[in-house]
Amino acid sequence: MDLPFNVASHLDASIRAAAAQLGLAERGFQPEVRVADPAHGDFQANGALAFAKREKQNPRALAQQIVDRLADLTGDFEISLAGPGFINFRLKPAALLAWLRAYDTEDHLQAGAASARAGHTWIVDYSSPNTAKQMHVGHLRSAVIGEAICRLLAFSGARVIRDNHIGDWGTQFGKLIWAYKRHLNAAALAAEPLEEFERLYKLGHNAADADPAVLTEAQQELVKLQNGDAENLAVWQHINDVSLAAFQKIYDQLGIKFDVTLGESFYNDKVDRIYRELTDCGLAEESKGALVVFHPEHPRFKTQPFIVRKSDGASNYASTDLATVLYRSEHFKVDGAAYVIDFRQSDHLQQLFLTAQKWFAKTGRKLPQLEHVDFGTVLGENNKPLKTRDGENIRLKALLDEARERAFALVSAKSPDSPETERRAIADVVGVASVQYADLSQNRSSDYVFAWDKMISLEGNTAAYLLYAVTRISSIFRKAGGDAVAVAATAPESAAEINLARKLVKFADAVQLATNALRPHYLSTYLYELAGDFSTFYGADKVIVDDPTVRARRLLLCHRTRLVLVAGLQLLGLRTLERM
Ligand code: ARG
Repeated sequence: MDLPFNVASHLDASIRAAAAQLGLAERGFQPEVRVADPAHGDFQANGALAFAKREKQNPRALAQQIVDRLADLTGDFEISLAGPGFINFRLKPAALLAWLRAYDTEDHLQAGAASARAGHTWIVDYSSPNTAKQMHVGHLRSAVIGEAICRLLAFSGARVIRDNHIGDWGTQFGKLIWAYKRHLNAAALAAEPLEEFERLYKLGHNAADADPAVLTEAQQELVKLQNGDAENLAVWQHINDVSLAAFQKIYDQLGIKFDVTLGESFYNDKVDRIYRELTDCGLAEESKGALVVFHPEHPRFKTQPFIVRKSDGASNYASTDLATVLYRSEHFKVDGAAYVIDFRQSDHLQQLFLTAQKWFAKTGRKLPQLEHVDFGTVLGENNKPLKTRDGENIRLKALLDEARERAFALVSAKSPDSPETERRAIADVVGVASVQYADLSQNRSSDYVFAWDKMISLEGNTAAYLLYAVTRISSIFRKAGGDAVAVAATAPESAAEINLARKLVKFADAVQLATNALRPHYLSTYLYELAGDFSTFYGADKVIVDDPTVRARRLLLCHRTRLVLVAGLQLLGLRTLERM
């Protein structure tokens, strides 16, 4: 039998079967297969230890009994017992070769990667900025992490709906419409629309502060909008259309295309049903004029309720988010929803999820799996939230422009002789990829320091380093004369070949880990290590040699390394290059 793509799950299944024969399964035995320290093997199963302790058995003897029933695996693996009952598995070179030959295209990699989420529908709520404002660095993480998560989920076989839950409704539109009608600068709108909206909003805000008559007028503009006045609706619509077109320019650079953009305004006519249902099922109560949900079992939310309708009768972030949960469940029939939002909104999301759980339970509905994919803050080199010198938020547009400019300097220093247009094209990819990768290479829950020199560099765990590894392999193939990989390659032989092959097989685990935890850094760490193993191999073993057998064997490894690197980088949302 061919070795399956995901070797760890293959081992897991075999060990479960062995455990079942021994009657251990019904007593709760778990194989606990994971990637091993390469010094011990490729994978290890630790389950015998914990189980034997619990059952007061000798763990080593138990592990041995399991190993005795794994005869089917001995063709592909060297199996050994270590310590107090760990089972180590080391892939034999022939098995490594079989794996490398089977997984020869991205489609084959993807077919192998199907996970527990395969066939499920997931909606990913990410980016989700407020309209009429420029996106700033704070919006970077949601966009970048969200896109990577969409790609990981899709790769593992889930149906993914990308939803941009924009903030396109709210009291700010009163002042904005007031100023728009009186002070719009058409030329500025055409050139930099979001800057113009920001200017108008500030203008309206300051005018309303200075003059109560203006404040009243602005409030009237808001009421007209809320009551569906045609003129104000058209202005509002225009502001949102222009905002989205400007956002799309950034999304294009980041490789993002939303399936739906259902922002807060979309849920305006859906909140009454939420008030009714929450009240009818006894979850919500009136408190000081507002409609609120308390969570008595929670240390804070027993006294700080979730306010689902404000005391002035208006809807808020909570009401639209509750309506969103219902819509996603009823309309899209999702199995899960991932909210890629800053950790500072944790309280909101916890209250949202708790309320939705109780509400769905009381109304006999099945709640989709709701996950807050949280992330930390982007810090400057002073360890404070990243700002410009004047303390302003850094515009995402300016940040990406600077990234491309800095990458251009890097590329030009490396290849001063290539034509400028070529260097620009390469720098566009490297610059944006560097910013994406700097974010994705960190555990998303931590803050990270945004340091240009570290992220736009050919050294270290950077996009440029990984992209360069890909181009280096492409250049090997250009020298070898085409991408042809001889079919009759022999099994990896030298220490560096074997080491690289063993790493390639573990791509499946990295993808699975990243997808299950919705944490892309598991994949980026793996890709970085893979590039390192490739570099060691390339330093140790000459690829383009005369001996056709050796050459074919090494070209196969080069080919698969590039395949996995490219597939992995694309899963993270990065574009890759043929030359650098
Ligand atoms: N517009 C919000 C903000 O800028 C983010 C929305 C996130 N999505 C959601 N369903 N609450 O903070």
